[in-house]
This record gives sequence, structure tokens and C-alpha cells, in this order.
Amino acid sequence: MDNSFPLSGFGSAALHAGHQQDPMYAHVTPIYASSTFVYDEAEQGMRRFSGEEEGYIYSRWGNPNFTEAEKKIAALEAFGLKDKNGNPLQLKALLHASGMAALSTLMMGNLKQGDKILSHYSLYSGLEELITKILPPFGVQSIITDLRDLNKAEQAIKENPEIKLMHLETPANPTLQCVDIEALTKLAKTKNILVSVDNTFATPYLQQPFRFGVDFVFHSTTKFLNGHGTAIGGVLIGNDIEKMKAGITKTHRILGGNSNPFDAFLLTQGLKTLELRMQRHCSNAITVADFLANHAAIEKVNYNGLTTHPDHAVAKKQMKHPGAMMSFELKKGKQGGIDFMNKLKMCICTVSLGTAETILSHPASMTHYHIPKEEKEKYGITDGLIRLSVGLENVEDILGDFNQALS
Ligand SMILES: Cc1ncc(COP(=O)(O)O)c(C=O)c1O
Repeated sequence: MDNSFPLSGFGSAALHAGHQQDPMYAHVTPIYASSTFVYDEAEQGMRRFSGEEEGYIYSRWGNPNFTEAEKKIAALEAFGLKDKNGNPLQLKALLHASGMAALSTLMMGNLKQGDKILSHYSLYSGLEELITKILPPFGVQSIITDLRDLNKAEQAIKENPEIKLMHLETPANPTLQCVDIEALTKLAKTKNILVSVDNTFATPYLQQPFRFGVDFVFHSTTKFLNGHGTAIGGVLIGNDIEKMKAGITKTHRILGGNSNPFDAFLLTQGLKTLELRMQRHCSNAITVADFLANHAAIEKVNYNGLTTHPDHAVAKKQMKHPGAMMSFELKKGKQGGIDFMNKLKMCICTVSLGTAETILSHPASMTHYHIPKEEKEKYGITDGLIRLSVGLENVEDILGDFNQALS
């Protein structure tokens, strides 16, 4: 594509952004399965190492398949946004081997001994373990509170001047709680606290946190961005280009959580259809949420699109659509949930989310199994809770399968 052509739609950007003409004229960027890259002459290698000349060196440091996915994701997170001077917002993304690898770069690249992280209590369990078990022996502590209450956030910041990073996950896993990105970022900026947002559940199609002045956005690309459940991956995107190119890139390269050409290739193919997939995921999800909310066997549905969800207003303010994730409880509790999942004939019982197929999991015994029961219940993760990622099937089939499994 001629880069001077102004793409007016998110779907077009998802297809074309980040693509570079292949030197062999392949239409789709081939998989560059090469650990290292060669130079025309030794001096060129030296110029590449010193940064004087752009070019690939070694695939832990960069690879054409990573670049295509990184540029596409950065273009989508920045789509339609402007910087302080009214110019198109510039972002830099770094692709990682997994979401957890990208979160590790975020923490290790920004924090030092004595610093603290402030976060909300409904969090992806791997991150919760990273900040409460892995980081404390290195002198980095966390304060986990209810960030839906701005007074609690303000109080935590006042009492802990060591807070250097506020990490938000919204909507959060698996309760679909939402925090107010704009209000919390405003508060954090009064004390120069960095703000990062886990945008995995929403994707840039539904929510663009850089609109509110956050410093970093993170995704587990394993989920909706890949969209087909074919590769693990993570991406860290930042708006301070110099910092991303220097300290954050250094941390990423040294920790070694790089992606690989095949997974990056699969991610790029998935990203191309993000807009279309999200539209179908979302329209199916609304219908499924209404069906569940009105079914006699269901006790409770957590879905931001329902006016009964406590964070409906916040979700509406910052998201284009409430998305395709929800969780629900059956009146018959845990056993009712197990019986329901075992009776499903089309929808699939597995962890993860954002795949083309509708998938369901049981957080209390799967992703959040290590958290003590009382704590889980405090966070709304009851024994009967089922997490649902609504897929791309014809919605009548999802309803039909649920209906027969609930009867
Ligand atoms: C919201 C969220 N953040 C982060 C992660 C971690 O990503 P990964 O499994 O790709 O390492 C997950 C994984 O389930 C997640 O759901």
C-alpha cells in the first residue's frame, strides 16, 4: 500500500497498516524463520549494532514478522487519536512470547527496589501472582484496592508516595468490573504516576485507553487479537517513543521474552479481521446476555451491557460496545454449573477467551484456583461462577446449545 493514502476506517487499518512490500513480491509477508540476519559488509553490521542504520540483527531483537504485527497493533491503538499538538498519535509496540512476558517487561522496565504498584482487586490471576509473589522479594510491593472507588485510590496514593505505577484491567477478569480510566489517570498524573491498562477484553476496536492519557497499553494477544486460539503472545505499547526505543526495548531484549516468527505471522492474519470479528462477537454477546438474564435457571449475569451491572455507566463511557465477555451463575450453584458445562454439545469447555468458537471456563477451579476461597468470594469469584467468551457461531446455535444444557 502507498503509505501516503489516508485510511479512513479501522477495518482498513487492521488490514493494511504495518505491511511492507516483501522483497520477493509475496502478497502476504512470509514467515522469516531465521535466527539471524546478514550484512552486505562488516561495517554494515557495526552500523546496525550502533543504531546508526535500521535493520535486523538477531530475532530476539527483532524480526520482520514481529514488526508487521507491532506496527498494526500500534496503528489500531492510535487510530483516530491525536497527540497534545494535534498531530496523529505515535505509539511503539513490542511483541512478546506471551502476555505474561509483556507484563514482566512492563514491571521490570519501569520499577525499581522500593517502588509500589497500585492496582484493582479483580485482576488476571497470573498478574496478581506476579505482583504479589514474584516482585516483592525484589523490593517491589503492591497495593490492591477497589479502584472503582476514587476515594480509595486517592487515599492509597496519599499514604504511599512510593507508588510509581497504576495498573488497570478494565473490563476485569472474570467479574467484568470496570474502572474509570479517565478519572484514575487524571488522579495518577497529579503525582507523576505511570498508568498502564490491560486492554485484552476490550481490544482497540472497543476501547482506546491512550485517549485518556495513559502511558502504556497491554494485551494478551493470545485472545481477541489473534482471534483463533492458535498462538500465545503479548504486546506492550507505549506513547513515549524514546523510552520505548531505549529502556523498555533493552528490558524486553535482555529478559528474552521475544515472540517467534510463526506466532507473529498467525497474529497478523488474525488482526486483519479484528473489526469484523468484534462486530459479530459483540452482537452475539448482547443476545446471549439477554437470554441468560431472562432464563429461570440463572441466578446472576455479569455483563457490562446490562443496566443491572454495577459498572454499566463506566463501561458505556469508555467503551464503544460492552464486548463479548461475561460471567454468570446458575441457581443450582457449583454443581448446576458443572452439569451445564458437561451437557453442552457445541460450545467448548476450556480456559482462555477471544477465540472464534464460544468457550466457557470455571474460574474458581481453573484460572483462580490458587486464591483462597474467602478472597475469591470477596472479589465476586464464587464457586458457581462460569466465564463465557461468546464466539462467532450463528447466535441461534449458541442459544440452542445453552437451552438444551440448562434444561
Ligand atoms: C486479561 C488477561 N491479561 C493477561 C493475561 C496473560 O496472558 P498470556 O496467557 O498470553 O500470558 C491473560 C490470560 O488469560 C488475561 O486474560
